Amino acid sequence: MEGGNLWKKEMVLKFVLLGVAFMNTVHGHGTRVGFYSRTCPGAESIVTSTVESHVRSDPTLAAGILRMHFHDCFVRGCDASVLIAGSDTERTAPPNVNLRGYEVIDDAKEKLEALCPGLVSCADILTLAARDSVVLSGGKSWKVPTGRKDGRVSIGSETLSLPGPNDNVTVQKKKFNDKGLNTIDLVVLAGGHTIGTTACQFFADRIYNPNGTTDPSIDPSFVPFLREICPQNQPRKRVALDTNSQFKFDTSYLANLKRGRGILRSDQVLWTDPSTSSFVQKYIATAPFNYQFGKSMVKMSNIGVKQGDEGEIRNKCSAVN
Ligand code: HEM
Ligand SMILES: *[C@@H]1O[C@H](CO)[C@@H](O)[C@H](O)[C@H]1NC(C)=O
Ligand SMILES: *[C@@H]1O[C@H](CO)[C@@H](O)[C@H](O)[C@H]1NC(C)=O
Repeated sequence: MEGGNLWKKEMVLKFVLLGVAFMNTVHGHGTRVGFYSRTCPGAESIVTSTVESHVRSDPTLAAGILRMHFHDCFVRGCDASVLIAGSDTERTAPPNVNLRGYEVIDDAKEKLEALCPGLVSCADILTLAARDSVVLSGGKSWKVPTGRKDGRVSIGSETLSLPGPNDNVTVQKKKFNDKGLNTIDLVVLAGGHTIGTTACQFFADRIYNPNGTTDPSIDPSFVPFLREICPQNQPRKRVALDTNSQFKFDTSYLANLKRGRGILRSDQVLWTDPSTSSFVQKYIATAPFNYQFGKSMVKMSNIGVKQGDEGEIRNKCSAVN
């Protein structure tokens, strides 16, 4: 009798443990909310206050950090590989030359190394900082699962998996699908373009067509405005991806697509392609957008997460140990 009960208890315990392990694998690839709550309770608030102080002195950094997290996750997973300096690394590759905010991540890392040395990964810092950047810009918060290890490899040519400004919807969907992200994730995460800017070079051909005409998907009354900010032969000048709302995390970027006021070709096609336009329409509503953005961000932030021996806790975010 006694032995039987003990056995039963053991089985129940095993079941519970198995269930927990299963949930972790399915929902978070091993990452979980509050990973540092016992080992380094100040981790999340230090990241938040660091991002806050930098964004207060330079508001354009919020967009830089959000984009940096996306570019990290799409290449070798969210493992801070984008932060590693050196020749032929991701950081020096063409899609990343305009990335901004490295100093914010370095600053948070330095503070965390002083507080709890060797415990908090750069990959987690970048993931938390991306969420904080959205919140500081007026977006809704979400809980960030943590527990990523940092990668040891960064290869410039691998940035080819990132979407480009001229990619059509088929290609954009394929690149997101390759990372386990669906069409809703694509449209809603592209909504990250509600903050930040692009260099004129990435869409100049839409407003300075060699034949004198413009891309027919642009609102013609919008073209003079864009030509004024982006004079010909000034490829490095920058223009807001969400006109008149560059610092506000809202849905006017999506609403602008409907009016032919997408800046990049890759933005505008989300409205002209019937397979994505219904989602553009649906997520113009603020509450669904905010909710889905957090959900899709968590999904993106779990791409290719490294754990255990697959990675390390870097001492400095810009170099492997
Ligand atoms: C869907 C395909 C996407 C394409 C083709 C794309 C392309 C681009 C391009 C060309 C720029 C301008 C870069 C420069 O001037 O150097 C840009 C900026 C930006 N992207 Fe994307 N992007 C995409 C998705 C995303 C996603 C998923 C996010 C984040 C959730 C994101 C966040 C940003 C932000 C915040 C900026 C502004 C950066 C700044 O102001 O420094 N993008 N993107
Ligand atoms: C999308 O772009 C790819 C690569 O440039 C091309 O092969 C494909 O035909 C395009 N698809 C559509 C539907 O335009
Ligand atoms: C320019 O016009 C020529 C001749 O009509 C056409 O073949 C070409 O595709 C046009 N180029 C662009 C970029 O519109």
